[in-house]
Amino acid sequence: MRVLLAGASGAVGMPLTRRLVAAGHEVVGISRSRTNAERLRGAGAEAVVADVLDREGLLTAVRGERADAVIHELTALGNTKMRDAFQGTNALRTTGTANLLAAARTVGAHRFVTQSIMFGYGYHDHGPRVITEDDPFGEPVSGTLGQAVAAMRSAEEQTFAADELDGVVLRYGLFYGRDSMTSMLVNLVRRRRLPVPASAGFVNFIYLEDAAAATVCALEKGRAGQAYNVVDDEPVRWGDYLDTLAAAVGARRPWRVPSWLLRPVPYLHALMGTSMRVSNAKAKRELGWAPSVPTYREGIPLIAEASR
Ligand SMILES: NC(=O)c1ccc[n+]([C@@H]2O[C@H](COP(=O)([O-])OP(=O)(O)OC[C@H]3O[C@@H](n4cnc5c(N)ncnc54)[C@H](OP(=O)(O)O)[C@@H]3O)[C@@H](O)[C@H]2O)c1
Repeated sequence: MRVLLAGASGAVGMPLTRRLVAAGHEVVGISRSRTNAERLRGAGAEAVVADVLDREGLLTAVRGERADAVIHELTALGNTKMRDAFQGTNALRTTGTANLLAAARTVGAHRFVTQSIMFGYGYHDHGPRVITEDDPFGEPVSGTLGQAVAAMRSAEEQTFAADELDGVVLRYGLFYGRDSMTSMLVNLVRRRRLPVPASAGFVNFIYLEDAAAATVCALEKGRAGQAYNVVDDEPVRWGDYLDTLAAAVGARRPWRVPSWLLRPVPYLHALMGTSMRVSNAKAKRELGWAPSVPTYREGIPLIAEASR
């Protein structure tokens, strides 16, 4: 397939670009920067320079292009200010999705793959039950995180509502791998700057290369109108994940603190106050995908080695 990939230069976008090219697909990456466009060309892709939030600019940039599919992998999470990171990512999920759907029509695509994160199931304690794609996703909640969850829902609703396109949706776990966010986490753990509430619950991670591999499978085999959880095989307690990471990089065990101490950092407080165990059974069954890094036990040595 010829694929228009928005976010091709990102943490998941780069391995995704490489895997698509290796699988015989043609990739046209979208980036706002000429430097990143060059990096994409170096990885065997073509590139167009456009800002996805500028609808007219985007449509002008892709006019004359042809593609079978469009993939949305955009985020503003690289912003150093948390508020900008959230608001920017929300805009990319609402306006960005609308603009990319318009671009998909312009280039004659018949498939559209978008994604968000498993926290769309709700930032709260889900208890011991295992969450599947049949669970409610994007239920309204108040506050800043409510806007984030609403934006995730909007991206999915817009994708499924686009009648002329086969829409497929991925709900990723938390990324880790050879990316800058993981390096930042490793540095915080090394300096013992990431305390963990003693009560912190379960979370699902996904190694970046595995997220990219699942996305290729979803492009090729995902059923129209379906969502797929892309998480590894074993939910892990935050405390166990961070203790294992600390041991692997030779740091001391992270401090255990009462959860209210994290309130001044609302996102971290919400993240570590959430507990969920998400199933990847549907992605395995329907996409023929399985994580090559099945749990944090195999993944943490890889990131520790990369950080040496
Ligand atoms: N990190 C996680 O743990 C996690 C977990 C689950 C889901 N996700 C989601 O997965 C997706 C990919 O995340 P990621 O970590 O790979 O992102 P990332 O590394 O922050 O990359 C962001 C990408 O978005 C592009 N971009 C941002 N704003 C743009 C705009 N206005 N126009 C065009 N391109 C724009 C950037 O391209 P240029 O800078 O080259 O323009 C870059 O390629 C996001 O939707 C994210 O929310 C992330």
